[in-house]
Amino acid sequence: MTAVEAENLTILYEGKPALSDVTFRLDEGKTLLLLGPNGAGKTTLLKTIACFHREYRGNLLVFGRNPCDARHLIGYVPQSSSLNERVPLTALEVVAMGGLYRRGFVHFKIPEEVLKKAEEVLTFVGLGHVKDKLFRELSEGQKQRVLLARALMSDPKLLLLDEPLSALDPSARAEVTNVLSKIKSEKNVTMIITTHDINPLLEIGDLVMLINKRLIAFGKPEEVLTDGVIKSVYGPLAKVIPVGGKLYCITGDFHLHRDRGGGL
Ligand SMILES: Nc1ncnc2c1ncn2[C@@H]1O[C@H](COP(=O)(O)OP(=O)(O)OP(=O)(O)O)[C@@H](O)[C@H]1O
Ligand SMILES: [Mg+2]
Repeated sequence: MTAVEAENLTILYEGKPALSDVTFRLDEGKTLLLLGPNGAGKTTLLKTIACFHREYRGNLLVFGRNPCDARHLIGYVPQSSSLNERVPLTALEVVAMGGLYRRGFVHFKIPEEVLKKAEEVLTFVGLGHVKDKLFRELSEGQKQRVLLARALMSDPKLLLLDEPLSALDPSARAEVTNVLSKIKSEKNVTMIITTHDINPLLEIGDLVMLINKRLIAFGKPEEVLTDGVIKSVYGPLAKVIPVGGKLYCITGDFHLHRDRGGGL
């Protein structure tokens, strides 16, 4: 089955296009890596698929339905969590919250079956041992895994992750990437993951989409990640280097080096 299908999709904010004329198809069970510079429209595309943003032209179907009719099938992990860390919630309570939203009413006490499931999901992401710790006291990598667990509570068929690796150091990145890899192999979930750095995610990406206010390229990693395509978006210093049968993409912040007079 097709998980997401877009045809000539143009997404607008107050009449002005932010992302124009995007056409693609993502089959169920596949993982799509969504790459593009700041302001390219990555978050905008995720929000539109999740029905958080509704101003668009063209066609967009999620499991054959209008996105707003497919909300119950979608898990969303936002770019920066809107979680208020002043509220002293434990890791387990944060995860359990993902199982309460869909019940449509506020609970003062989290039902036992929701807590039990939250503990299972927390264990799945490798954090059973920190369930009673306060969320705000966890490391950044652990927080990201808790937020992933929260999104998994509703058993989504489509998981949308907005820059799950940003602001993480290499070891935390590896923790989160391992969990994403586990989700891919053990759960039949379709994933769309946005990122600025595609390298740590290439192992789990079946498809890559490069956007920059419009669709630049969509296809298998080796089709999209070519020198020509990458340079067209990130400039002449960007490049793709094959390392031991794998690809390594350099799309970095070159102007930073130039400003310092260093060059590359
Ligand atoms: N609520 C909004 N109202 C008006 N314009 C918006 C809104 N949100 C985003 N935009 C604009 O839409 C364009 C795409 O923004 P978006 O946040 O989707 O980019 P992005 O690829 O996620 O960038 P980043 O890598 O910085 O997260 C930008 O020009 C942005 O200014
Ligand atoms: Mg974004």
